[in-house]
Amino acid sequence: MEDATLKEWFTDDKYGLFIHLGLYSVAARHEWVQTLEEINSNDYQKYFDNFNPDLLNPYEWAKDAKRNGFKYVIITAKHHEGFCLWDTQYTDFKVTNTSAGKDILKELIDAFRKEGLRIGLYYSLLDWHHPNFKVDGYHPMRNNDKYIEIYHEDMGSYRKYMINQITELLTNYGKIDYLWFDFSYESRNWGKFVGKGSEDWGSEELEKIIYELQPDILLNDRLGLSRGVKTPEQFSRSKGMKGELWETVQTLNNSWGYDRDNNNFKSSELVVKQLIDTVSKGGNFTINVGPTARGEWDDQSKKILQEVGAWLSKNGQSIYGATSCDFDAPNNCCYTQKGKKIYLHIFSWPYRTIVLPNLGNKVAFARLLSDGSEIRFVDKKNIGGEREATDNLYKEVAEVHIKEAIDPSTLLLNIPIRPPKDLVPVIELTLK
Ligand code: GLC
Repeated sequence: MEDATLKEWFTDDKYGLFIHLGLYSVAARHEWVQTLEEINSNDYQKYFDNFNPDLLNPYEWAKDAKRNGFKYVIITAKHHEGFCLWDTQYTDFKVTNTSAGKDILKELIDAFRKEGLRIGLYYSLLDWHHPNFKVDGYHPMRNNDKYIEIYHEDMGSYRKYMINQITELLTNYGKIDYLWFDFSYESRNWGKFVGKGSEDWGSEELEKIIYELQPDILLNDRLGLSRGVKTPEQFSRSKGMKGELWETVQTLNNSWGYDRDNNNFKSSELVVKQLIDTVSKGGNFTINVGPTARGEWDDQSKKILQEVGAWLSKNGQSIYGATSCDFDAPNNCCYTQKGKKIYLHIFSWPYRTIVLPNLGNKVAFARLLSDGSEIRFVDKKNIGGEREATDNLYKEVAEVHIKEAIDPSTLLLNIPIRPPKDLVPVIELTLK
């Protein structure tokens, strides 16, 4: 993991797909439904009994994901509810014992791998089903004194269970590129209960076993060890340190699991802006889809991801393999950079001109990325040496900006009055 080449795929890939599929998809009221509604195991059983994503077509999902520009996928193998989406030998609470009757995780891994996406697995450190998992303030039975009285807390055996399952996942499913644990909450204190962290999970040992089994794997930062890929959730952070791996994970509608009555979806334009913003700060962007209980992506998610994919198919050069840029972008704009190319993403289309600080005399050519058309510009060289040739353009430029254009450090782009149709227009600047 310290080897730079092992990280390369991640820093180049930039755009990941999170998939949350579990028993909560049947309840369709958020993946935390069991604890939000304090449902005991007996009552939760109905979601197990009725779990059957019969319309799930793994190859369709994988093809869609590829077509829509995703480079890697992270699939929930086990979420907090404890249900396992693979054929584990360590619990009966698993997909092969439901009406689905098959190892869905395996099918998904095979399909996504076949389409060339990198494979990430999500594994919850919390487990509200395991009989030995110590009750805490997030547990569905936190207010059930009867349960607390009779259950047998034994985190040692739970740790063993996790080691067995992780070993299984890293042994029977080929190369896993990314293991995504969720989550540590050591600082939580509910009075009656305290949170859990690396000691509770046995993170050091777990990590050691993981690297022994798959030395090239990436790990996220939620084992409580203060290392691994940083995963700010649902918020945009400021620029990362050089060389630091980070990924912001985001929902489309504030729920990770399918949430039928929640229509609070982001627009595709907003998702594109979040993606750009993240890459401009040196990070990766992973967006979630929560498939329905029948195993389909809901129409809204599909549409949004298709629109983002269409944008990427024309503008992906500014995203894949790109990272932050040392120049400061003008207002309402974001830069990304890849070698000699700087990509200017215009979030709000201004009238006719954009002044680029500190790029005077540094740019050889500028074009609109989506159709490759030239964007003319004025800078020191044009104003000085080639004044004659650029005189007309120079006159076109609004008076107020001329002063800035003459500032030898700036470059002034002359943009069309009508914005191009792209969700976010991108101008590619080729440095001299
Ligand atoms: C949170 C939630 C969880 C979700 C995850 C994704 O930590 O507990 O439901 O799966 O974030 O990042």
